Amino acid sequence: MQLQNLAPIPELYVSYESAQKLKVEAGDLPSWDLSPRQTCDLELLMNGGFNPLKGFLGQEDYDSVVEDMRLKDGALWPMPITLDVTEKFAATIEEGQDIALRDAEGVILATMTVTDKWVPDKAREAEKVFGADDSAHPAVNYLHNKAGSVYLGGPITGIQPPVHYDFKARRDTPNELRAFFRKMGWRRVVAFQTRNPLHRAHQELTFRAAKEAQANLLIHPVVGMTKPGDVDHFTRVRCYEAVLDKYPAATTTMSLLNLAMRMAGPREAVWHGLIRRNHGCTHFIVGRDHAGPGKNSAGEDFYGPYDAQELFRKYADEIGIEMVDFKHMVYVQERAQYEPADEIEDGLTVLNISGTELRRRLAEGLEIPEWFSFPEVVRELRRTRPPRAAQGFTVFFTGFSGSGKSTVANALMVKLMEMGGRPVTLLDGDVVRKNLSSELGFSKEHRDLNIRRIGFVASEITKNGGIAICAPIAPYAATRRAVREEIEEHGAFVEVHVATSLEECERRDRKGLYKLAREGKIKEFTGISDPYDVPETPELRLDTEGSDVDHCAHQVLLKLEGMGLVAG
Ligand code: PPS
Repeated sequence: MQLQNLAPIPELYVSYESAQKLKVEAGDLPSWDLSPRQTCDLELLMNGGFNPLKGFLGQEDYDSVVEDMRLKDGALWPMPITLDVTEKFAATIEEGQDIALRDAEGVILATMTVTDKWVPDKAREAEKVFGADDSAHPAVNYLHNKAGSVYLGGPITGIQPPVHYDFKARRDTPNELRAFFRKMGWRRVVAFQTRNPLHRAHQELTFRAAKEAQANLLIHPVVGMTKPGDVDHFTRVRCYEAVLDKYPAATTTMSLLNLAMRMAGPREAVWHGLIRRNHGCTHFIVGRDHAGPGKNSAGEDFYGPYDAQELFRKYADEIGIEMVDFKHMVYVQERAQYEPADEIEDGLTVLNISGTELRRRLAEGLEIPEWFSFPEVVRELRRTRPPRAAQGFTVFFTGFSGSGKSTVANALMVKLMEMGGRPVTLLDGDVVRKNLSSELGFSKEHRDLNIRRIGFVASEITKNGGIAICAPIAPYAATRRAVREEIEEHGAFVEVHVATSLEECERRDRKGLYKLAREGKIKEFTGISDPYDVPETPELRLDTEGSDVDHCAHQVLLKLEGMGLVAG
């Protein structure tokens, strides 16, 4: 196990000359534009990070990975790495055909010979791989609501890696890291996987882990895709760079991993181990609730806190990397230092700040003590996350046509403008349909497109510190959720259900549309001939039937104040 990083690992790239030729030839092939997740997967397939995979999984390998965590040849592999495409694209592809895989800018990164094409049983994949077919799990949500319905599988011929413009010097392929370890004479290397900023406790535990394993330390943060809502990787990398100075210089290094995480807990831990083995590491730190996805829709944890460690232990020999289990480090006030929680004698004072408490303190601009984190790290976090009352946010009204969304949204806009401080933009349903979405109708596909456009504009406004007020019908829960996720990367998303009943909207019939819908003169009319998913847990539900517009707008304002979004 200790000498494994001496040899290079196989990659899927062809030589430079062949790549130039292939790139031209591939221009004539049918091409698939990779999603951000697929681009991450492809990079690790091509550079050997996903060794022994030679391409996106074919159907037999997929079935075997889903059922038994093994490829059909018996090799351990816990995560289905699949190329999901739309039905429309799949219909144009025959098995045996080559396709070009392009990045978001249209650059051809690889070709794939399609050996398999099939429609997966997504519910089974969710149950087996993620433990439950529950869309509260980010990867299950991705599977059902983002991934295409057909999978293509086949070997990859690598032409070039995806281009990264950020932190170039900090990104390494498995072979680059192996070469670095060889050059430095590092034979034992313990890797630390992370998707969060490092605070003092992490620094202590990684330092201890390295000492215990008598190994050098690789801080190996994921900068591909992590859990929605995480601190963005730009901020995190600046934080990591600050913490790197706190380790003895000759013992520790950092490299960025362009992995798209699935938050699959135990299976993910095994996967992470294999990836780190491929990167030439000999030891891997597995913590409590490793790669945990949070709570399920019943409010319970998806996995037990030590399930990941157990599964890893079971397969450690096959993974080919030794587990260093996470010492839960806590701060002991009387000793002014961090110590493993299980070694603390009675009577001592243990201090702790949870992730939720940290976010609250950042959001409210409160003190974050030096025993908890390094001032440089806190400074970076505050730069990215100013207090909530200075951040952008989105208020998203949803409800039937004629429910009063626009009227309340207008009143709210005026009140917020009266308060001042941040620019306010109203994206009203009718106005958007005149400007952004003038060519769209009311089919499911068009409504989704309309809402996604609104979501995109609102997320840009939110990111840039403004207030976006949206007031479309937005009848579908899955689309509202997608918009929420997009916006929550930058600020708060406040969903307001304008809960005026269909009967009342129809009675008012301000635009005369309900009458036309009843007569069948308007098709697919929400509530009459098209569905409306009632929001289950909106931040606020407005009963417009019992109160006037001013009162409704005030209720929203009070909610915003309660959430710390507008200062008192
Ligand atoms: S959606 O589903 O969110 O894309 O709809 P939205 O863009 O908010 O709809 C805006 C207004 O379009 C009018 N209208 C219809 N509504 C629902 N179903 C059908 N078929 C339809 N055809 C036209 C309706 O007046 C909506 O107005 P609001 O502002 O909601 O009263």
